Amino acid sequence: MAVERVMIKVALSLALLLPLASSSAVEEVKFDFMYFVQQWPASYCATNPCRAKPPPPAGAFTIHGLWPNYLKPTPGKPGPENCNSSDHLNPSQIQDLVNPLTQQWPSLSRAMNNLEFWGHEWQKHGTCSNFNQHGYFNATLALKIKPSNDIAKILAESHIVPSNKNAYGFGEISDAVAKGTGFRANLQCIKDKANGETLLYQVYQCVDRFGKNVVRCEAKMESHCPASGKRIKLPVLPLHSAL
Ligand SMILES: *[C@@H]1O[C@H](CO)[C@@H](O)[C@H](O)[C@H]1NC(C)=O
Ligand SMILES: *[C@@H]1O[C@H](CO)[C@@H](O)[C@H](O)[C@H]1NC(C)=O
Repeated sequence: MAVERVMIKVALSLALLLPLASSSAVEEVKFDFMYFVQQWPASYCATNPCRAKPPPPAGAFTIHGLWPNYLKPTPGKPGPENCNSSDHLNPSQIQDLVNPLTQQWPSLSRAMNNLEFWGHEWQKHGTCSNFNQHGYFNATLALKIKPSNDIAKILAESHIVPSNKNAYGFGEISDAVAKGTGFRANLQCIKDKANGETLLYQVYQCVDRFGKNVVRCEAKMESHCPASGKRIKLPVLPLHSAL
């Protein structure tokens, strides 16, 4: 009797679900994992026209984005991008997130205000993420505020501190991030335009394809960081106050 009722229920739900699945469901974008990318504002400012006032809070990494990625990328295409050109960011969808986004995900570029930056990240990466607009920004903020993803604090615990004098080794930084986050991340360095010094610019943490949990990075990226010697700086603004 009970079994029969369950069977009928299953049959009914299948009958209801099947037409739905074939007609109105949005196509899922296929990719393997996501990069949660945080950037160090002072390093960005050493190489790009940046906004006069660096965003708060000082001494913290800020979000660059959450990017769907392939494990086996084709050259020039690390992951799916620009999946829906007519899906523009609607500010009303993220109204409740504007305060934390302003803090955690500010535009560093003089060429873009915050909303333009968020709109760019949504268009290029968010439309491929299988999240809706609110879900994409909410999930990325959730990653950012996890203590285990607080890169500046994690580095400080290994005595790697912001300074225009101290320099660190790639292994030192990589080990500190692995120890604090639980997984080895991909690091990206950039050269200071003014003096050619190497600066730590971005930290790429690998996240599952649901944008939820940090996972092991299966793929290694070109880091542009020197592999040996203590030559990587985590600079502070203003960069060249002595010049
Ligand atoms: C693309 O975005 C538009 C606007 O949000 C939406 O109406 C349309 O269904 C989307 N197309 C796909 C294939 O998801
Ligand atoms: C936002 O993200 C948090 C953390 O992942 C989650 O618990 C919450 O349900 C999300 N809220 C919405 C409205 O998506």
